[in-house]
Amino acid sequence: MSAEHPMSAEPPMIPVRPIASEPTGLHLRDGENGASVTVSFYDQVGGREFFQKLITEFYRGVADDPVLKPMYPEDDLGPATERFTMFLEQYWGGPGTYSEQRGHPRLRMRHQPFKVNPDARDRWLGHMKNALDSMELPPLHYETLWSYLERAAHAMVNTFDE
Ligand code: HEM
Repeated sequence: MSAEHPMSAEPPMIPVRPIASEPTGLHLRDGENGASVTVSFYDQVGGREFFQKLITEFYRGVADDPVLKPMYPEDDLGPATERFTMFLEQYWGGPGTYSEQRGHPRLRMRHQPFKVNPDARDRWLGHMKNALDSMELPPLHYETLWSYLERAAHAMVNTFDE
């Protein structure tokens, strides 16, 4: 029998790593010796620099949002930018620093203190779309990231109260 408390379990609809249909690894032949190497989605989009730029841009939008900004416990959005960047890096095959520092993501549980209603979700997604549009990603990479973020944001809704 599992000893885990039911409230601490991450619901299955928010995956903590890419689902099978997401093209996260590109298999290439190494020109030197013919060995196969796998390039993670993280590396394909440009590694840490890409995610840092994306999330910095995203939080620029959040900083001006009258509904979202007051939800953030710290006035300075720098630490929140770093946590979200680390999470996405880890999710897409980069370094596992997020879990080393923060433990298991348990994202729905971590969002419980905040009122994530459909309005908050749509605002969040609007800022994310603006940020993603500014990155000039190839269409497949754009769609892969966007469909993940859209699904995750819908799964994060925890109230329908206005
Ligand atoms: C749907 C609307 C959402 C709202 C309104 C929202 C709001 C927030 C707030 C207020 C925080 C606390 C700031 C902090 O301490 O870092 C937070 C943290 C975080 N959010 Fe969201 N969020 C949303 C969706 C998402 C989604 C879809 C993801 C993932 C794809 C995500 C990933 C994170 C992560 C990784 C953290 C930091 C968790 C930690 O380690 O403490 N959020 N979010």
